[in-house]
Amino acid sequence: MTEIQRRPFIAGNWKLNKTQAEAFAFCEALKHKAGEFDYCDLLVAPTFTSLAIAREALKKSAVALAAQNCYAKDDGAYTGEVSAALLLDAGCSHVIVGHSERRQLFFERDEDVRTKFWAARRHRLVPILCVGETLQEREAGDASKVVLRQLAAVLSECPESLEVNDVVIAYEPVWAIGTGKTASPEDAEQMHAEIRTALEKHLGKTLCFGIRVLYGGSVKPDNATQLLSKPNIDGALIGGASLDLDSFLAIARASAPCS
Ligand code: PGA
Repeated sequence: MTEIQRRPFIAGNWKLNKTQAEAFAFCEALKHKAGEFDYCDLLVAPTFTSLAIAREALKKSAVALAAQNCYAKDDGAYTGEVSAALLLDAGCSHVIVGHSERRQLFFERDEDVRTKFWAARRHRLVPILCVGETLQEREAGDASKVVLRQLAAVLSECPESLEVNDVVIAYEPVWAIGTGKTASPEDAEQMHAEIRTALEKHLGKTLCFGIRVLYGGSVKPDNATQLLSKPNIDGALIGGASLDLDSFLAIARASAPCS
């Protein structure tokens, strides 16, 4: 596949962690360091309750802010849900959709992920679409089939025309999330290349070469360089290791050209 320079994208998914005070302290410290990282895009995804304070701390920095989920409807009688419109209002530029924890623990189906993804786009948020197979699916030889199905469910019909930076994809093998097990850089690269081929089918050549595909699943400072050096791995979606600023930044550093 044609070589193309894609700017590395390093995203921290905090999941259900950090108080507002902790989020503020992290983001303030991150803002002061962010200038060193002019070779990559940085993003944090705090809990809903910390979005506003994180936005405040990150003011005038290039660090992007994401929510970890959204609902597909814009407003109405949907107790407990938060819409893409409200995330935009809270200062988010991105939103994670289809994370495996949402799929597995909260029973989100491909169809739910599709509606969330396009609701995000309706409000000009950039969805970070997570796809990935379980261990059972991988052992059954179905990893590609599952990942390509999850992608097709969202992208096979596009209600709007997309630009390269309107979408981010994250390949996160479920068995590697929070387990300390990482896909080998070779296996991850192979899946990323397959994802790119599927992107070409759904979205065309220009987009498929420009859209960033992140790897997620136990990314740590000591395995980041190997993963990020693969041609189709354009960044990382980091859970556990993103909670500590030093380890988050060490992973970002591993995305530097020739690191
Ligand atoms: P992990 O989580 O880095 O803790 O494995 C990654 C993710 O779920 O996005």
